[in-house]
Amino acid sequence: MVLERLQKVIAEAGIASRRKAEKMIVEGRVTVDGKVVTQLGTKVNTFSNVTVDGEPIERESLHTYLFYKPRGVVSTASDDKGRKTVVDYFKNLPYRLYPIGRLDYDTSGLLLMTNDGELANLLMHPRNNVAKVYVAKITGQLTPEEIGQLKNGVKIDRRRCAPAKVKIIKTDRKKNNQIVQLTIHEGQYHQVKRMFKSVNHQVKKLAREKYAFLTLASLVSGKYRELTHEEVDRLKDVD
Ligand code: URA
Repeated sequence: MVLERLQKVIAEAGIASRRKAEKMIVEGRVTVDGKVVTQLGTKVNTFSNVTVDGEPIERESLHTYLFYKPRGVVSTASDDKGRKTVVDYFKNLPYRLYPIGRLDYDTSGLLLMTNDGELANLLMHPRNNVAKVYVAKITGQLTPEEIGQLKNGVKIDRRRCAPAKVKIIKTDRKKNNQIVQLTIHEGQYHQVKRMFKSVNHQVKKLAREKYAFLTLASLVSGKYRELTHEEVDRLKDVD
């Protein structure tokens, strides 16, 4: 049986932040199975009845999925142009999932979908340092100088990006294009496309292959799998 800290359970129910939940516990406003609990380390299980100010909290089960987003799908819950959205793929599930971050309409690859607000906030926080690995097909070929610029951190809109890892996968001189693997830790709007643009190359095709330690292994485009508890815990520890 999964045991969780009381303040975490209250935070996950959307009642208050963890810190505020701790305060509520200390103030004697929280009961577990009918008894007031003021001890901060208290752990509860899935079936414990928890109340805050006399009101039972609703404990929705939390789910996080790894989705192989196809190209030609938007990463928002609804689209004013009526295009297919990532949420459409999860319509048969009994809970409402939303994407952690975004992939562009024309980008494919690994996208996490969740109803765990705490996990989403943690991973989308600008301070979060998750490595994301992209593979881009770009016009032309990167020069050693351009590779150096990307590795040092290019400027987009006067803001300097954090250093990136760059690996050339394949060069096609006849077609004048290149496949490049780029590893970044940020998630600005169109970040990869803008990084290549800043060194004068256009992204023709883009895919995200890895997010932290997670890969698309054994999935095909348009399919998903649920993350295990261990994977979710590992994600919460990633920085
Ligand atoms: N960078 C981009 O430019 N697009 C994406 O979809 C993701 C990262």
